[in-house]
Amino acid sequence: MSKPLRITAVKGMNDILPPESARWEWLEAVVRRAMAAHAFRNVRTPIMEHTQLFTRGLGEVTDIVEKEMYSFEDRQDQHGHADHLSLRPENTAGVVRAAAEHNLLYDGGKRLYYMGPMFRRERPQRGRYRQFHQIGAEALGFGGPEVDAELILLAAHLWAELGIRHWRLELNCLGQPDERRGHRAALIAYFEAHQGQLDEDARRRLHSNPLRILDTKNPAMQALVEGAPKLIDHLGEASRAHFQAVQDVLAANGIAFAINPRLVRGLDYYNLTVFEFITEHLGAQGTLCGGGRYDYLIEQIGGKPAPAVGWALGVERVLELLKEEGVAVPDPVPDAYAVIPDAGGVPQAMRCLRALRARGVAVQMHAGGEAGLGSMKSQFKKADGSGARFALIFGADEVAAGEVTVKALRDGAGAQARRPLADPATWADSLKSPA
Ligand code: HAM
Repeated sequence: MSKPLRITAVKGMNDILPPESARWEWLEAVVRRAMAAHAFRNVRTPIMEHTQLFTRGLGEVTDIVEKEMYSFEDRQDQHGHADHLSLRPENTAGVVRAAAEHNLLYDGGKRLYYMGPMFRRERPQRGRYRQFHQIGAEALGFGGPEVDAELILLAAHLWAELGIRHWRLELNCLGQPDERRGHRAALIAYFEAHQGQLDEDARRRLHSNPLRILDTKNPAMQALVEGAPKLIDHLGEASRAHFQAVQDVLAANGIAFAINPRLVRGLDYYNLTVFEFITEHLGAQGTLCGGGRYDYLIEQIGGKPAPAVGWALGVERVLELLKEEGVAVPDPVPDAYAVIPDAGGVPQAMRCLRALRARGVAVQMHAGGEAGLGSMKSQFKKADGSGARFALIFGADEVAAGEVTVKALRDGAGAQARRPLADPATWADSLKSPA
């Protein structure tokens, strides 16, 4: 028989394996603490949604909806109907859908957070994947500028907790729909006057979504975009006051920021405040976190109108930055490794390990192969390699005497003592690492 072809992971989709996965767990634990400190509650929505949620929610003329979604038609049901489904490219629309569907805002605003995989069919490169992970925070039902500021301070709190120092914050105000319409008309007039300098993408978007032209990565169009009319000059009194109030809170909290009038974000649902946290230490994919206000999204997908603001960060990028910044993340090691010189000791050993684990001791049990458990020497080598602070030796002598030998492998290496097998509760704590 010929050797079967090896099946590999899908392009742009990564396995997260130990020891790397320990860094993910550590980051998630830090995030949970930070979210709890800000009274944000966890929300988990499906990874697949009706395609319409995204086409309607994110905007038809966005890169994500035009070219990056993993969409398919489901099988027909018995009535010949088939759903159009998509893997979520982001999760704001899903959270809003869930909030509307379950009338979550009936008794007031909600602060929610999520962690999970998102899918975009982008060209993979460092910091950009087709399955990537976001951690997001969404505050639904709050219209005041203090919540915009709270969200930004939450992200800054996270950077501090994670030990990330190299970030900067950019802010912009996208105003309200009528203000945007005024700006849009001015933009179209400006770009029409410079038709010859537009690339193909820009020409296509000139009348469907001219704002998006400002987002162009084309170096040849930078000068043109630089001179384009600015939305900030089309803002009315209320929008300007909202934006100023956000800035005042940030300034009072020592959060440095720069106003970038060209910051438009890649999704259409935003109004008023938008922001991005950016680092110069990750090359081209330097946006760590992006978000803003989306006061009309809930209504747009059929819910009762309610204001909202939120952000999402890219987990892969944040972890990469942690590496760049040299932040050490502890790799978990077991407290103890169970050495079992002969198979007769296995039942007793496992009883003891269960009792220790129930008391919070992390124990790795030696396990052998077809040929048995292996020599003491090879078992000790494994015990050392595991990083455990103690070896528990379940030798025939010890077990016959109703005992186990506890041997230190690290601090005070070699020191050993016998412990009773009958009541592990009396000595379990002595195996635990100091917190
Ligand atoms: P976004 O800017 O599209 O916003 O994505 C947020 C973050 O996800 C980015 O800043 C980046 O760190 C990460 N990210 C995006 N695409 C990729 C990729 N292909 N590979 C790796 N990381 C990526 C949103 O998704 C909005 N839902 C944010 C939001 C929440 N706005 C309001 N609430």
